[in-house]
Amino acid sequence: MASQVLVAANRGPLSYALAADGTLSARRGGGGLVSGLSAALSEQPEALWVCAALSDADREAVRRDVSEPGVRMLDIDPTMYDDAYNGIANSVLWFTHHHLYDVPREPVFDAEFRRRWGGYVAYNEAFARALAEEAAEGARVLVQDYHLALVPGQLRELRPDLRIGHFTHTPWASREFLDMLPADVREQLVRGMLGADVVGFHTRAWADAFMGAAHLDDERRVAVYPLGVDADELRALARRPEVDAKLAELRAEIGDRRTIARVDRTELSKNILRGLLAYRELLTVHPEWRGRVVHLASAYPSRQDLKVYRDYTAAVSELAAQINAEFAAEDWQPVLVSVKDDFARSLAVYRMADVALVNPVRDGMNLVAKEIPVVSEAGCAVVLSTGAGAYEELRRDALTVNPYDVSATAEALHAALSMPDAERADRTKRLAAAATALPPAQWFKAQLSALA
Ligand code: G6P
Repeated sequence: MASQVLVAANRGPLSYALAADGTLSARRGGGGLVSGLSAALSEQPEALWVCAALSDADREAVRRDVSEPGVRMLDIDPTMYDDAYNGIANSVLWFTHHHLYDVPREPVFDAEFRRRWGGYVAYNEAFARALAEEAAEGARVLVQDYHLALVPGQLRELRPDLRIGHFTHTPWASREFLDMLPADVREQLVRGMLGADVVGFHTRAWADAFMGAAHLDDERRVAVYPLGVDADELRALARRPEVDAKLAELRAEIGDRRTIARVDRTELSKNILRGLLAYRELLTVHPEWRGRVVHLASAYPSRQDLKVYRDYTAAVSELAAQINAEFAAEDWQPVLVSVKDDFARSLAVYRMADVALVNPVRDGMNLVAKEIPVVSEAGCAVVLSTGAGAYEELRRDALTVNPYDVSATAEALHAALSMPDAERADRTKRLAAAATALPPAQWFKAQLSALA
């Protein structure tokens, strides 16, 4: 049956793993896009989520036809997929929008890049064709993120009757970074997105940057929808018995020490290394915290097909081990790194943390900064980077830091740890109110209405 509401995203709500005995098991993927969209779509049972098979196990799931209702997973040629996802989306577009290049060496736009770009165009076409097939007359289609920037234009050609939105979950690059892209590629990206009736971003800053790039002085097609969290749902999840069990385990390990928590994919833009350096500086400059605080760093693996991510992951473990070697005492380990994507454990950490460290160099929104105050039991002081999209809404009650300034971050951690309990609780309440202003279901409905 043709669908009236469709979303398209590279990542689907679930991805599969294939065991040695041939059984498939499904798990929820990491990242803000999946948490936001999954929550939004739980209230849209008739919607269809079109996504890519990300791995051999996913492709096997498509072949066995085990995918969830409301999900269509596209079995895309593995080489084309690798070119589009690893080669262009994650190595070029992600790096451009997050300003991550090591500029003396990168980026390089050569014949190899052109070959991969061809894969990206074809991968976008595969989505456009699938959407054109599945959409009812006049249906509304919400296309997600930098993986699928060309889809709105391609789909418009195939199906002029549809109402199309595009939403970007990342920042939008500054002029300097966008201008590094070959001019024709930059044009195709912007024109592709402008195939949509409405182009959405998490913050005013990213929307303005896009308008500059697109030479738009008419605001009508660009809109800001700052994704927030659903307090009731998140609190219910955080109260489950398995989360209680994780909390008890953590308490047993940490005792009554203070905790500084972070939860991220091991992602270059999350600035985990400078976060660890700041913690080391805190222990050096404020030795009174030695033995009295533990840094819980959840840094679960992401995009490990790319060497820069593997190297970064190794560097994070190495630096954490160095800090432990330097400061550990008989009954105190200063940093506990967890590399498992364990949502129950993350929720337990959210409940107990005294301080949250959210210091990305640049981030579309950062939902962790919004989730922690909502779930926190006794109040949590949030040390927040000016580079996070969430800064626009949370700046008043967070302790804000320049993400490159390790010393300032160390001082902010000290201030956060020293904050009187009553002040921390008050700030947490106001942070939670700001964080829940536009929960996923409303965020999604607002975009649908804009297409009506
Ligand atoms: C960010 C992107 C999402 C992506 C997520 C996880 O939040 O905006 O589109 O899904 O990271 O990254 P991955 O490459 O694992 O899908």
